[in-house]
Amino acid sequence: MIATQTKVNVIDHPLVQKTLTDLRDHQTPSHEFRANAHRLSYFLVYEALKELSVRQVGVETPVGPGTGVALTDYIILAPVLRAGLVLADAAQQLFPNVRIYHIGLKRDEKTLEAQSYYAKLPDSLPPDCRVFILDPMLATGGSAVAAISLFDKMGVSNIHLVSFVAAPEGVAKVHKHFPNVHITTAAVDNHLNEHGYIVPGLGDAGDRIFGT
Ligand code: PRP
Ligand code: URA
Repeated sequence: MIATQTKVNVIDHPLVQKTLTDLRDHQTPSHEFRANAHRLSYFLVYEALKELSVRQVGVETPVGPGTGVALTDYIILAPVLRAGLVLADAAQQLFPNVRIYHIGLKRDEKTLEAQSYYAKLPDSLPPDCRVFILDPMLATGGSAVAAISLFDKMGVSNIHLVSFVAAPEGVAKVHKHFPNVHITTAAVDNHLNEHGYIVPGLGDAGDRIFGT
């Protein structure tokens, strides 16, 4: 049995927590919310990618020969529409050539079930690729499990989820179905309310980023 806690990395850095606090504030206007969401995305993607594999390479500096590294993993970003686009945008700036496969999921407001409306995936993927599913909110976990399932069915085992805020219920659901999935997040909050919103959370991420 894998210890679930070891699979959840909560980034307790002052800049991360300050940025998250600004996102949580209901008075933060839309343009500032977007800017903070972008900033937090950089921090979290940077953290989530810290286990990437490298190989030693030589590098010629203006002063002489040195050594450095090259990245060796086959990396895939999978933003969950809509809110995951902000994470993908930041990640793409860190990795300009990365492959991005968009996943369209919409939570039914009554049943809270994730409904799929789009998935742009190739026919096959290298089994040793690394998939980073990007979604700011991990609430009931329905969307995350649906997104992870798409890659699991293709034989991918190295899957990482990046979120701004997670609910304990969502973390538990992801690890019930996929105990090996790593989660990088800025916070694991208190609980879900009767509408499936994370408490205290930050409200509706998609609406706050893109408008209602
Ligand atoms: C939000 C959020 C997640 C999902 C989380 O998206 O961005 O994808 O809800 O909820 P869950 O863990 O209970 O599935 P939403 O379905 O509202 O779509 P949107 O980003 O297009 O607004
Ligand atoms: N989706 C959001 O955007 N926020 C929540 O709190 C839950 C789901």
